[in-house]
Amino acid sequence: MEKMMDIENQRFVTNSYHCWLQYRKIENANQYSDIPSSIGVAGNTAIIDSAARELQYALKSMLDVDSTVQPYTSNESSIVLGTYESVNLNNYGISPKLFDDLNEEGYLLKTTEDNRQVLLIGKTDRGALYAAFHFLRILQQEESLLGLEIVEAPKNQLRMMNQWDNMNGSIERGYSGKSIFFNGNDFSKDVTRIKDYARLLSSVGVNAISINNVNVWDVETKLLTEEFLPKVKEVANILRSYGITTYLSINYASPIELGNLPTADPLDKEVGKWWARKAEEIYSYIPDFGGFVVKADSEGRPGPFTYGRGHVEGANVLARALQPFNGKVVWRCFVYNCLQDWRDRKTDRARAAYDNFKPLDGRFLDNVILQIKNGPMDFQVREPISPLVGAMKETNQVVEFQIAQEYTGQQKDVCYLVPQWKEVLDFDTYSDGEGSTVKSIVDGSRYNYSHSGIAAVSNIGNDINWTGNTLAQANLYGFGRLTWNPDLSTETITNEWIQFTFGSDPTVAGAVEDILLQSWRTYENYTAPLGVGWMVNPDHHYGPNVEGYEYSKWGTYHFADRDGIGVDRTIETGTGYAGQYFGSNAERYNSLEDCPDELLLFFHHVPYSHKLHSGVTVIQHIYNTHFQGVEEVETFIKSWNELEGKVENWVFENVKERLQLQLENAKEWRDRINTYFYRKSGIADEKNRTIY
Ligand code: GCU
Repeated sequence: MEKMMDIENQRFVTNSYHCWLQYRKIENANQYSDIPSSIGVAGNTAIIDSAARELQYALKSMLDVDSTVQPYTSNESSIVLGTYESVNLNNYGISPKLFDDLNEEGYLLKTTEDNRQVLLIGKTDRGALYAAFHFLRILQQEESLLGLEIVEAPKNQLRMMNQWDNMNGSIERGYSGKSIFFNGNDFSKDVTRIKDYARLLSSVGVNAISINNVNVWDVETKLLTEEFLPKVKEVANILRSYGITTYLSINYASPIELGNLPTADPLDKEVGKWWARKAEEIYSYIPDFGGFVVKADSEGRPGPFTYGRGHVEGANVLARALQPFNGKVVWRCFVYNCLQDWRDRKTDRARAAYDNFKPLDGRFLDNVILQIKNGPMDFQVREPISPLVGAMKETNQVVEFQIAQEYTGQQKDVCYLVPQWKEVLDFDTYSDGEGSTVKSIVDGSRYNYSHSGIAAVSNIGNDINWTGNTLAQANLYGFGRLTWNPDLSTETITNEWIQFTFGSDPTVAGAVEDILLQSWRTYENYTAPLGVGWMVNPDHHYGPNVEGYEYSKWGTYHFADRDGIGVDRTIETGTGYAGQYFGSNAERYNSLEDCPDELLLFFHHVPYSHKLHSGVTVIQHIYNTHFQGVEEVETFIKSWNELEGKVENWVFENVKERLQLQLENAKEWRDRINTYFYRKSGIADEKNRTIY
């Protein structure tokens, strides 16, 4: 109770607690003067209740309308909220066939001709909830309701959030406080934030979540036991009422650690039975439990390899156990040997996901989904798209993004990632000829996957604004919107977020938009150049350290010496990684002439004097971009400072403070990187700027 008070009070400290659900007062409220004040609810489910509550709350907040919620009747002036089976469609001249083509989460949003009714009709209750949020977005944008008729459905089936929360309350790669789920090796007592998080997620269409870290330690292993399952159930109940399905990350060695078995060998009969019984137990608590997320045989985590088995056996034993309950196994492809010695210049971590999984196509059970990081390495600011996406035509896939800014500024620095994700989703893999974009693979349409979609590592914690840097809320918002519909443009998503967060002052909107849209490139400018990656401090991964990354035991990841830099990943002389791509992508990346500048050092080892397509040499590019990056941050600061008094003070100070940290970081990067490469190459800056 005490804790709840805290949160209530803190909400007065900053509206940014509410993120994009602030439901600001609508100035020109006249245009909505005949908005119905009764909400007619058809259907009686927790999800419909959530939608009705949200509508009530938002209408009050935006329009000062005190609405009532009552059972649906077809002739009253009202906002109709329900599923197509529970609403009298005839009454509005709507054919039920309209819903036949829609997937389970689709909806119709319509105003009747006489404008007396707003119809928010879902194919299921989830659809109705999404319709309600869509309607509220329209109001927040102050758009007209006249003649509205929108039919929508999400493009991706699985739209998932991965929390990397540990039960001691810490968050792996968390940059915004402690876990909202756990604390003191137990569940948090106060669930207010879980509920508010569920609202935020469902408002942008996220429909699944795994609540604990992919690295599952001792206590988290016990989430699958009767000690914690009742609490998982409580959380799942909250999440379910917002259309979100709960998953758990599991420890592959659970049969040993929880079941006292001598082995976790997936082919051992007792192990199979143990998982089957475990699944039954979990489903007795949570009948719609989503399934397991598994990080196995990577970075020291246990897995089937210990027993001489592979991923297929490893994943399928779990899939068999979950199958009777419709559960899924989300098996991560972030599998590599972090101790490998790459000095032979043939061994290559970038190859690992493809080498491990590609040969296994078609052998996983149908309720297994492979989760593939967007790049072959690990969420660097610039990487090519993982060649595994699209390479397994008979194996369900989801792509994994990282909203948490582990390598992209840790929510001190601004780095808006929607443009990066757009690039990934629009990338043509050529896996099925021209047009085989990543989005057409992960939405399941290209290869008829039975399960597919997009997952991401969350960036939230219990900071009052959820994301540390308030501008980092845009990444969470953008992830959801883009995952719902990958065809939305970056500009649309960005402008929505800005308007919902800051209102419609054009000065504010312009400044924030400029900062956001520039920020990814800026971060790239002052950090690792031309796709080279990995120049970060070991372990915590913030700030520059050209040779410092924790697995640099065998030398740097980028082979910089006095003559040149970059990793030869070509087919002829390098690691052969470029050959993992299809057709013209393989040719393009393999060719020194055709490789895009921004990925040059990912694919090629070149002398510092190598000329880029841009016309400058590699070394000059390094100097230029590092000076430029700092200047760009200075511009961000200047534009932000002009917003004083125009945005809420708390937010103004929050972002201002972070931008100062970003500036220090950018300068440190500039100086370290430029000095390092000046010393290595002995080539001076053409523009004679000071290099320390
Ligand atoms: C990165 C990250 C780890 C995380 C891992 C993963 O290596 O630094 O914290 O466990 O990714 O994706 O599993």
